[in-house]
Amino acid sequence: MTIGIGLLGLGTVGAGVAGILATPSGRHPLVGELALRRVAVRDPARPRPVELAAELLSTDPEAVVDDPAVDIVVEVMGGLEPARSLILRAIAAGKPVVTANKAVIARYGEEIAAAAAAQGVYVLIEAAVGGGIPIIEPLKQSLGANRIQRVSGIINGTTNYILSRMAAEGAAYADVLADAQRLGYAEADPAADVQGGDAADKIAILAGLAYGGSVPRATIPTEGIDRLDARDVAYAAQLGYVVKLLAVAQAMPGSQAEQLLDVRVHPTLLPKVHPLAGVNGVNNAILVEGDPVGQVMFYGPGAGAGPTASAVVADILNIAGIRQATGNGSNARLDPLLAAGSWRPCRLVDSAVTSHRNYVRLRTSDRAGVIGAIGTCFGEAGVSIQSIVQFETQSAGDAEIVVITHEVCEANFRQALAAIEALADVQAVAACLRTL
Ligand code: NAP
Ligand code: HSE
Repeated sequence: MTIGIGLLGLGTVGAGVAGILATPSGRHPLVGELALRRVAVRDPARPRPVELAAELLSTDPEAVVDDPAVDIVVEVMGGLEPARSLILRAIAAGKPVVTANKAVIARYGEEIAAAAAAQGVYVLIEAAVGGGIPIIEPLKQSLGANRIQRVSGIINGTTNYILSRMAAEGAAYADVLADAQRLGYAEADPAADVQGGDAADKIAILAGLAYGGSVPRATIPTEGIDRLDARDVAYAAQLGYVVKLLAVAQAMPGSQAEQLLDVRVHPTLLPKVHPLAGVNGVNNAILVEGDPVGQVMFYGPGAGAGPTASAVVADILNIAGIRQATGNGSNARLDPLLAAGSWRPCRLVDSAVTSHRNYVRLRTSDRAGVIGAIGTCFGEAGVSIQSIVQFETQSAGDAEIVVITHEVCEANFRQALAAIEALADVQAVAACLRTL
């Protein structure tokens, strides 16, 4: 039984998918049952890394969705619109959808899931998080018996590639970002990568699956690597840490009626021995902590044509397998684990009540008593210091002081910083990063 595929987009990911479909030999036999029927692009004249018959290409994505020869719609065009409307159009036509579009799913996942449930079709999103790493299906299915305590990870390949090369080679930020774009890792607008928005989309999706309810994407505190100073990466290294863009979703104590969560994205100092500290280049890793499983880590290439296409085609095969088992699948009831609907409300906590370890770099006068005064401000706010180190600066009479705190309540930490900023000998709180 041949299954018709309609591809919306033939860029980095779309070309990877077309490449797998064109070469089924040695793969699962179901791959040989998939036939690429139509492909939507913006510019049919653009050179492509895969050879396709010219008549397959269309500049009308709605026509691709509507084509009766298309059984499964694969959305890999990116952006919010028309991607969202095309996904909803496919669902309304009773066609299952596979998408790699985390931006759409993080914002419109509830709307899309409701439409899919009403129509009895699957919308599968394995490629939306972690590139080639299987993490969506494990969260939906293999880890379903657990109470998830925390999901944390490096889930943006572009920024991990940039940070790794800056740390290893001292490479310049702009040069490495250009390489990440050339290699197909970055989003069409790389601001989404470097400002942390892409990782926030992905942690919203992971948290939604781990905790069973939609997470309000717009309220996730998000900080990227675009304002990270190379000096902090160097100081962190001297103190035994690496800096990574970390996304975290953590269960917080609260009522039975809803799940309270601390969800955030920011550059973070990881001790060099931490399991995520050795994740370099375009690789991603997601650490899931659950009861009773303990810690499970998923690791692999987080972006790029091949790895992402591997995840997209896995989703297509899941749907193809169900269609094969049920005839055409149209009257089958959805498997609740694969469909992954919400089962409880989730809400983000006020970050002022959360607790973290912190790294602070202060620019100060190099005078007797400065470190004492800083220590007093922390102490009076109830913030316990783990270490305080003074680094040499180029300008005589000035000092750079780096403080690492123990785990402290965010509100107390902010109170200490306000008092420190008011000290006459403190020129600036130059950097503030979270520490694990
Ligand atoms: P891309 O290289 O920019 O490709 C986008 C494709 O969509 C292009 O072929 C483009 O046509 C086509 N397209 C865009 N708007 C269109 C429209 N209105 N009508 C018809 N065709 C349109 O993007 P990508 O890197 O493959 O990413 C695609 C999606 O996968 C995004 O949601 C991204 O976030 C996600 N993703 C990407 C990666 C990765 O490593 N790149 C990994 C995971 C997930 P033309 O070629 O003619 O311009
Ligand atoms: N731009 C994304 C990244 C693609 O660098 O991780 C994979 O989702």
